[in-house]
Amino acid sequence: MPAKRTMMPPSTHPPDVAVVGGGVIGLAIAWRARRRGLEVAVFDRGELGAGTSSAAAGMLAPVAEADPQERGLLELGLESARRWPAFAAELRDVTGVDVGYRTCGTLLLARDRDEAEHVERERALRERLGLRVERLLGSAARRLEPGLAPALRLALALPDDHAVEPRRVVAALVEACTRAGVRLHPHTPVSDLAALDADRVVLAAGAWSGTLAPVPVRPVKGQSLLLRDPGGPGLADRVLRFEGGYLVPRGDGRYYLGASVEERGFDTAVRTGPLYELLRDAAELVPGVLELEVDEVVVGLRPGTPDNAPLLGPDPEDPRLVHATGHYRNGILLAPVTADRVVEHLLGVPA
Ligand code: FAD
Ligand code: GLY
Repeated sequence: MPAKRTMMPPSTHPPDVAVVGGGVIGLAIAWRARRRGLEVAVFDRGELGAGTSSAAAGMLAPVAEADPQERGLLELGLESARRWPAFAAELRDVTGVDVGYRTCGTLLLARDRDEAEHVERERALRERLGLRVERLLGSAARRLEPGLAPALRLALALPDDHAVEPRRVVAALVEACTRAGVRLHPHTPVSDLAALDADRVVLAAGAWSGTLAPVPVRPVKGQSLLLRDPGGPGLADRVLRFEGGYLVPRGDGRYYLGASVEERGFDTAVRTGPLYELLRDAAELVPGVLELEVDEVVVGLRPGTPDNAPLLGPDPEDPRLVHATGHYRNGILLAPVTADRVVEHLLGVPA
């Protein structure tokens, strides 16, 4: 369907809502809020979407990331995964941008006996949680993914964990916001939330949120490699997850190999050790990885929280302030449900 060309004229009044942070979370909230009739402004200290959202792999992986201690996060992730097909389709209809939503499924891989025992425990846990999983012997997994090494011992198929391309998602959201009439202010740092002229302020500054308000959000560094097969697609079709990392195929010969998890504060230096470990571990399971070209080394800061779950909703002290931060490993997955929940809160009615 061709993109709709409607552009809303900008208003000169102060906005109803000022969103601080133009990553996937701030942009998704701004778009949805504007569509519901609110006047919205987004402030980012840099380019829109150029923060952690552009460093992400784009896995929509509530099942792979499930932890029995994090039931609330699992339910939120499953809910958001259900919303992704319509979210992606709507973005495409409004902007003409295809966000690369692929219903590719995921394989969890085990190389040796210890990893196989771990994968068996992961299977039992997911079955108890009522999640769809299928145990595959190495030979069966290799029939699905011929690029896997003979050393593969066991695999778990997670048919409901899919993927998008985060950079396309933020590009589509910027375009959707522009067309809807959201006032976008890139290269506009905010240093004092109280100084913003708006009825409500949404804190969506990702890993930097704790520098603006007393929220328990810390940066958790991730380093990754963007890879390309000059021969085109074929090395892997599904998302492949293994001890220490994952390989996400884009379907056209590009692959995302990620990611380290490092507690190093706001350090964004590229360091060799974690990248070496990623390549070493990936190549044991997918030897063809060592034939790929490197397009880019990516570093991002995940907005971590004490319980790994996002902070969504009103600030306990400041009724004007709404939290939409701390999405840690799952901000791309959680963008649709976050936007809907925050807009519900802003409007006081279901979105
Ligand atoms: P950001 O995208 O960082 O946006 C916050 C914005 O706030 C930035 O643009 C920044 O410039 C701006 N800002 C900060 N301070 C100020 C200020 N003072 N004034 C104005 N603007 C400010 N999630 C998934 O769901 N699936 C994945 O596969 C996945 N893979 C990942 C892989 C890696 C290596 C990493 C690091 C993360 C991954 N994530 C993944 C997590 C995901 O990227 C984040 O949870 C998500 O991007 C957070 O989005 P955000 O909008 O909150 O933050
Ligand atoms: N969700 C994948 C990561 O944060 O590395």
